[in-house]
Amino acid sequence: MRTKVIAGNWKMHKDVSGTIDLITGIKAGLGATTPNCTVIVCPPFTSLETASTLLKNSPIKLGAQNMNPESSGAFTGEISPSMLKSVGAEYVILGHSERRTLFGESDQFINQKIKKALEAGLLPIFCIGETLQERESGVTFDILKRQVTQGLSGISEQELAKIIIAYEPVWAIGTGKTASPEQAQEVHAYIRGLAASLYSTAAAEKLIIQYGGSVKPDNAKELLSQKDIDGALVGGACLAAESFLGIINAC
Ligand code: 13P
Repeated sequence: MRTKVIAGNWKMHKDVSGTIDLITGIKAGLGATTPNCTVIVCPPFTSLETASTLLKNSPIKLGAQNMNPESSGAFTGEISPSMLKSVGAEYVILGHSERRTLFGESDQFINQKIKKALEAGLLPIFCIGETLQERESGVTFDILKRQVTQGLSGISEQELAKIIIAYEPVWAIGTGKTASPEQAQEVHAYIRGLAASLYSTAAAEKLIIQYGGSVKPDNAKELLSQKDIDGALVGGACLAAESFLGIINAC
């Protein structure tokens, strides 16, 4: 049995005071209950330390949204793996489609980041997904195959066990257009099959594959009940405690 993982990608939202409000709200909503899924929040860099302090003694885990693969040096504006570790981050989102398209990140660069994150003891949430044009031209599986094989190049089976894959169809991100549970399940099954062929059936069975793209409290349950959907990477709906808790409750 794979444990479901619900992660909130705050993107470029919430200053420090907004972070305090949102985390306080999520914690209050959970109360003394331990959710039966892993819950991760990924605030902006500037809020990581505040979030880390607020999350002490809570079941909620902390993640960052990006990272530079270099350890240190003249990389103005960048943040290293050990810097993330030092503020208490356990996870890091890598290869998000917004990073790929807006900041020109290649599969090779993302592969480098995954390796360096693992080396530093961070757990990568590795994002993949096709654009609308790619889906409509029937190349979805080719795109995902390229992203997975290049992103995971040189990654061992033991290392794969520390990686979460997030399938986020680009056309479903922030658009209100969710992939139907059947559409998402079809792709998740494909990704799991691909992991089985690249590694082993046992490794593929253990692999956590999240879905992301307009996940909301009212569609989460149906998506999460699909056989190969092991959680959600949530954007818009993670910015209010009530809707994020609604998705956690769907687990
Ligand atoms: P939305 O939930 O806003 O569509 O964003 C999804 C996403 O990009 C999470 O990483």
